[in-house]
Amino acid sequence: MLVALLVLLALGNTIEAVGEDSEEQCRYKPKLDPRPHSVSIVEFGAVGDGKTLNTPAFQNAIFYLNSFADKGGAQLYVPPGKWLTGSFNLTSHLTLFLEKDAVILGSQVPSQWGITDALPSYGRGIEVPGSRYRSLINGYNLRDVVITGNNGTIDGQGSFWWDSFISNTSTYSRPHLVEIVESVGVVVSNLTFLNAPAYNIHPVYCSHVLVQNISAYAPSSSPFTIGVVPDSSDHVCIESCNLSMGYDAISLKSGWDEYGITYGRPTALVHIKQVNLQASTGSALAVGSEMSGGISQVIVENLHIKNSFSGIAFRTAVGRGGYIQDMHVSYVEMENVQTALLASGQWKSHPDEDYDPSALPILDQITIENVTGINISLAGSFTGIENFPFEFTLLDISLSINPAASSTSSWMCSNVVGSSTNVSPEPCPELKSSSSLSNLHSSSITTFNSQGLASYL
Ligand SMILES: *[C@@H]1O[C@H](CO)[C@@H](O)[C@H](O)[C@H]1NC(C)=O
Ligand SMILES: *[C@@H]1O[C@H](CO)[C@@H](O)[C@H](O)[C@H]1NC(C)=O
Ligand SMILES: *[C@@H]1O[C@H](CO)[C@@H](O)[C@H](O)[C@H]1NC(C)=O
Ligand SMILES: *[C@@H]1O[C@H](CO)[C@@H](O)[C@H](O)[C@H]1NC(C)=O
Ligand SMILES: *[C@@H]1O[C@H](CO)[C@@H](O)[C@H](O)[C@H]1NC(C)=O
Ligand SMILES: *[C@@H]1O[C@H](CO)[C@@H](O)[C@H](O)[C@H]1NC(C)=O
Ligand SMILES: *[C@@H]1O[C@H](CO)[C@@H](O)[C@H](O)[C@H]1NC(C)=O
Ligand SMILES: *[C@@H]1O[C@H](CO)[C@@H](O)[C@H](O)[C@H]1NC(C)=O
Repeated sequence: MLVALLVLLALGNTIEAVGEDSEEQCRYKPKLDPRPHSVSIVEFGAVGDGKTLNTPAFQNAIFYLNSFADKGGAQLYVPPGKWLTGSFNLTSHLTLFLEKDAVILGSQVPSQWGITDALPSYGRGIEVPGSRYRSLINGYNLRDVVITGNNGTIDGQGSFWWDSFISNTSTYSRPHLVEIVESVGVVVSNLTFLNAPAYNIHPVYCSHVLVQNISAYAPSSSPFTIGVVPDSSDHVCIESCNLSMGYDAISLKSGWDEYGITYGRPTALVHIKQVNLQASTGSALAVGSEMSGGISQVIVENLHIKNSFSGIAFRTAVGRGGYIQDMHVSYVEMENVQTALLASGQWKSHPDEDYDPSALPILDQITIENVTGINISLAGSFTGIENFPFEFTLLDISLSINPAASSTSSWMCSNVVGSSTNVSPEPCPELKSSSSLSNLHSSSITTFNSQGLASYL
């Protein structure tokens, strides 16, 4: 096996990302040393009364701390209090630290967030064509950035954004709480996230991302709120988190139709372990539906899922292209879940009419193993693409179906093939071939290795 030691940051830098090209990304933790310099947001005139707008204080503090980037980096300390702010950018070699009882509150005035371009792999805002609101906390082209604390809180006060989404009165797509773009060495840890306008944590075109020991909550009625969304990013670990969201808890993505295909950056080498997930209207763990850059080399283990619409969902559509391949999910416990396993090739939202109807997404080499569930209504719903079936391997699955479930059969299958061993209730015939069909589709995975990273360092 190719073992690569990546010392990302020479000369007194603080995260040393040790990356190996194995799926077990959570085994390789960055080394987090204290920053040699620390300043409090109060020194920049911020007032923690929940009313004073502190956007200039955050922006000025970051501008000042940028000068320490080549001196070992710095910490911006946020003490207890309620710190109302609009959007601000982080800088390299920075730690944003939220003390216990420190709450960053997102402003409810849209002009405090500003507008930014659509991501190139999406071609437009996801919800509304054109530009999108800037996220509350942003990073562009950074190295070694840490957002952490002693269980401080980042509260997006999202109800304002949810209402404008529901009433379709927004001119731009909603913002997220944290969006880090084209960066290497990103840590988000030891914090609570509340009421995100849309996503909580959105790493895009990033490498070496650790999301650890966070909790995130948004009400079940909040429209399309999502917890953690690794998007065209690689070497990602998500570990020891509690995420309870309106839509999906964790969603893996990699761009949308022709824009994602052209941008061509996969999500790869992702490890998700030991997480408690709840997803009211979407899926506890979702893959897609935007997956046009490809998603592969994913290991998921120890998921606890409850009170969710679906447990694990794969979503795609004709026109996406790309692939979801080489994924291994094991040790999943589910409780009170409508549909335990879901795969759909009919997730037909497109950025525009220019998508390529011959761009068929590949979905194979997916193993789901050691799953137990109680109070499940539907064990599996698999609807693949005609003449281009999905492939799954199911092992050691035991789901107890709620007798009141309306469906007469526990599995629904079309355009899917695969094998199953020790699966109860008895799966549909399509999933019962004795041997797994490997190489169903000509292999498309571009195996990710450190060479690919060189251009980001
Ligand atoms: C944040 O970064 C973006 C992208 O580099 C830039 O357009 C924007 O002006 C920055 N905002 C501030 C407040 O520095
Ligand atoms: C998780 O975060 C809390 C504060 O948010 C901290 O007290 C605790 O030690 C952290 N646990 C681990 C394992 O890092
Ligand atoms: C972290 O803070 C949240 C919100 O204040 C609180 O509900 C939760 O109990 C805290 N968690 C820990 C481990 O202290
Ligand atoms: C939302 O509003 C836009 C224009 O403001 C309109 O084109 C679109 O059809 C509306 N969508 C819905 C679902 O009402
Ligand atoms: C989380 O907090 C704990 C306790 O303070 C600390 O030991 C740990 O290093 C922190 N983890 C990260 C990833 O920041
Ligand atoms: C997640 O929930 C578990 C069980 O309630 C708790 O022990 C753990 O501290 C929570 N972790 C976080 C990051 O809130
Ligand atoms: C079973 O799960 C459904 C959600 O799928 C929930 O509405 C119902 O209350 C659960 N029943 C029990 C007995 O927990
Ligand atoms: C799943 O459980 C079975 C039976 O308990 C066990 O034999 C098998 O090794 C487990 N699979 C994994 C991946 O550990």
